[in-house]
Amino acid sequence: MPPQQTKSLDVRAALKQGIHLLREAHVPSDTLAAELLLLHVTRRDRTWLYAHPEEILDPKIMESYFTLLRRRAAGEPTQHLTGKQEFWGLEFEVTSDVLIPRPETEHLIEVALDRLAVRVLRAGRDPKLTGEGLTIVDIGTGSGCIAIALAKELPAAKLYATDISPAALAIAQHNATRLGFPNRITFLESELFSAFSSSSHQSPVTNHQSLLFDLIISNPPYIGRKEANTLPTEVRDHEPASALYGGEEGYELYGLLIPEAARHLKPSGLLVLELGHDSLPAVRPLLESPQWTNVHVTNDLAAIPRVLSAERT
Ligand SMILES: C[S@@+](CC[C@H](N)C(=O)[O-])C[C@H]1O[C@@H](n2cnc3c(N)ncnc32)[C@H](O)[C@@H]1O
Repeated sequence: MPPQQTKSLDVRAALKQGIHLLREAHVPSDTLAAELLLLHVTRRDRTWLYAHPEEILDPKIMESYFTLLRRRAAGEPTQHLTGKQEFWGLEFEVTSDVLIPRPETEHLIEVALDRLAVRVLRAGRDPKLTGEGLTIVDIGTGSGCIAIALAKELPAAKLYATDISPAALAIAQHNATRLGFPNRITFLESELFSAFSSSSHQSPVTNHQSLLFDLIISNPPYIGRKEANTLPTEVRDHEPASALYGGEEGYELYGLLIPEAARHLKPSGLLVLELGHDSLPAVRPLLESPQWTNVHVTNDLAAIPRVLSAERT
């Protein structure tokens, strides 16, 4: 339990008490969470934390710290309490309207950049990959982490990012602006590719319709609703259901996304998809068609098949 009186604690003692409180509540990565919350309330960085263990903390700061610790112990994700998460070396603002970017999603960026580089080499063009001439879309952008990471890596690419959730798009747009890419990405509210479909009755005719892409990249919702009870509280009760569940089984959205992607890619265009931990057996057969070639599976650091990528014939 936190102390009733939080005055006169030094940094070391505050951290120790925070870790203890979170450990008692079985919070995963308790030390990291306590550190991040202490850094958040003190507005300091990690170097300060360990360089000034004897510094006495202001009672008001301690009060905020213990309030956040109690909320974390009750299941709120650390990132919702600090409002941020790092991805691809960039600091993203996150709220309960978007999925918190996960480290394994960085493999999507790596695979996309590798495969684009191979395409450039095959075409005998300048191997320096700037993205010039490339049109790219991130389907289900959430916080914007994938599209913004690609904007950073491919300064000349034309980028689109879609989401079914207007609230998520507002966060993504805000992240793009604050991270220095205010006009690089066109954000569109869209059910999968509806914003790019000329047969769409929902959207007025725009110049986005009938676009064909060099790269379609997506981390779609892929958890099964039937697994909801097995999820940690911080995920099930705090992250948006539309970002988590792909259907009763989990892999249903891939069945819509992959055939639509085939219609929206240029010849030799690339599809790069994140997979759920057990999605591969259901999803890989969807690419066994003459429309697709060079299908690759990339494992994450935990040896889980995480990225499925393929080339449109
Ligand atoms: C797993 S989250 C991924 C968010 C972000 N790209 C990331 O990697 O952290 C999936 C996103 O897809 C969006 N989404 C769900 N169904 C969709 C659909 N049918 N069409 C477009 N976006 C959808 C959700 O709102 C959510 O933001």
